[in-house]
Amino acid sequence: MNAFNFYSPTFFAFGEGAEHQTGQLVRQFGGSRVLLVYGGGSAKRNGAYDAVTDSLREAGIPWEELNGVRPNPRSGLVYEGIDLCRRAGTDFLLAIGGGSAIDTAKAIAFGTPYGGDFWDIFAGKAKLEKCMPVGAVLTIAAAGSEGSNSCVITQEDGNMKWGSPKSDLIRPRFAVLNPRYTCSLPPFQTACGAADMMSHIMERYFTNTPDVGLTDRLCEALLKTVIDAAPRALANPDDISARSDLMWVSTLAHNNSVGVGREQDWASHQMEHELSALYDCAHGAGLAVVTPAWMEYVMNHDVARFARFAANVFGVEPDYAAPERTAKEGIRRLRVFYRELGLPATLEEVGGRVEDIPAIIERRKQKPNGFPFGGFVKINPDDMAAIYRLCAK
Ligand code: NZQ
Ligand code: ZN
Repeated sequence: MNAFNFYSPTFFAFGEGAEHQTGQLVRQFGGSRVLLVYGGGSAKRNGAYDAVTDSLREAGIPWEELNGVRPNPRSGLVYEGIDLCRRAGTDFLLAIGGGSAIDTAKAIAFGTPYGGDFWDIFAGKAKLEKCMPVGAVLTIAAAGSEGSNSCVITQEDGNMKWGSPKSDLIRPRFAVLNPRYTCSLPPFQTACGAADMMSHIMERYFTNTPDVGLTDRLCEALLKTVIDAAPRALANPDDISARSDLMWVSTLAHNNSVGVGREQDWASHQMEHELSALYDCAHGAGLAVVTPAWMEYVMNHDVARFARFAANVFGVEPDYAAPERTAKEGIRRLRVFYRELGLPATLEEVGGRVEDIPAIIERRKQKPNGFPFGGFVKINPDDMAAIYRLCAK
């Protein structure tokens, strides 16, 4: 295991009725004037908005609102939110929703105290030094932004979907997790969430770092929990036990509890972000396409690790004489699992086209530190093109 620092200071309020604590939690973490950030209406339909605003009212906390956050959130609303905060004297960002609302709130939270264009921080032209406190009321188990140290925004000028620099300053101060709110998710979003949290775990699991037995086993336990719970949540959307497991896996998968002390990969995420930037597909759907193709492409780098994944996560009977057979069977089972959740399997199913691959590679080259990427296996432009071709039908 490598040496590490781990600072993950998010307060989690989990379970039925946890949302009633929101106003008090805002106060506890220094908020006196809130900007409430949410999406296209699900929070109003499932009652989360009413519960949160009641709680703010009870705690005597005034708020402004920024709504209409879209999945794959755009820079336009971040600029709007920064203006609003400066005019209103906001001192706390509160998101209701998933990764898109929380990431918009995070970008506003560090964009407001920064004097210039918030995108300078994404582009590496300025340091992320100050950030207003952020809180999250989660309504979808997926991106893990409720406990993570980064956010992902698409700059509309150039259509670049980039992650912010990682910083503990932007981890939410608190996250309210009531799994009941996730019962209203459409099946496709439940499935996309499962693929995203699995990917967050697998990006950490496939590592070159030796002697990481504890975090290996934690990763396997989280993956097995998703494999158990996601089909149950799809079969019965109100299955609160399945929803609870998914919600807490979402957080543990990405607050780095299971990633400390090990080199991590993140190539599949890099390749997916190009797809959701270009085709506006759901992030989890793009990952369901890219991840198995990446696995096939890099499997020979460490067949034993892929065979272990197959055996310990999907229960494949190990073939000790031919471990590559075990490894391949694990990848096949992952594909079948995603298919059974109703997720796409090909580039075309997320709106992609093989003809676009060269342009995607060129766009990637414009990014600072664009190539190579990936901690487990270094991905160069030819590898990236080959992996996308494996995704095509
Ligand atoms: O906009 P509304 O009406 O709220 O609808 C949303 C949206 O259409 C809907 N939804 C959310 N909760 C619901 C609900 N519908 C019914 N009932 C509910 N309870 O679900 C749709 C997707 O929401 P979104 O917030 O986009 O989902 P998710 O949490 O998957 O976030 C995806 C974004 O997070 C980024 C992704 O790239 C993507 O932009 N990520 C952020 C990360 C981070 N900050 O750490 C890491 C991830 O790897 C990821 O990249
Ligand atoms: Zn993700």
